[in-house]
Amino acid sequence: ARIVVLVSGSGTNLQALIDAEKAGPAFGGTIVAVGADRTGIAGLERAAQADIPTFALRVKDFPTREAWDRALRDKVAEYAPDLVVSAGFMKLLGPDFLAAFGGRVINTHPALSPSFPGMHGPADALAYGVKITGCTVFFVAGGVDDGPVIAQAAVAVEDGDDAESLHERIKTAERALLVDVVGRLARSGWTIDKRKVILP
Ligand code: GRF
Repeated sequence: ARIVVLVSGSGTNLQALIDAEKAGPAFGGTIVAVGADRTGIAGLERAAQADIPTFALRVKDFPTREAWDRALRDKVAEYAPDLVVSAGFMKLLGPDFLAAFGGRVINTHPALSPSFPGMHGPADALAYGVKITGCTVFFVAGGVDDGPVIAQAAVAVEDGDDAESLHERIKTAERALLVDVVGRLARSGWTIDKRKVILP
């Protein structure tokens, strides 16, 4: 399966997918391009190191947000992806993008949805005082981290955690979860019944 990955930062989730692909054909996916909403990030470096084509489209280079969304749609379409993986991508994908790839876009969030959506999941979980948080891989449906859940992993909050240490612990679980889910989607496909995602 042809996979396009979208990143905005360090790209450790991307790196886990690159490593899984490198480990052998059993993974079932080929990362055909990596896109970003900004330049100068480690995620794009990681792609370049793996000889994967990259592109960066900055919102501020476009007259409107909608124009950026359409440009991102058109750029991603050049790679004819079977699956788009938003892995630490910090922009909401708009209606034109989702019209083109909706249903085939997955995202990963460092909290147990529907708890703690948005940009500060680990910090919000810490502030709330939960004992168990985790990560969620889900289909992007247009809202903020609220699409049909594909898989989740639980991560304990430890005494002395700050948002950083908690997020790092979550990311360890998140990378494993994402590699497992992307491989299964790539190899065997999926069905969704209302909000229930069924992986064969
Ligand atoms: C991940 O935890 C992702 O869920 C969140 O930001 C982090 C990105 O990490 N949105 P990386 O760029 O994959 O290292």
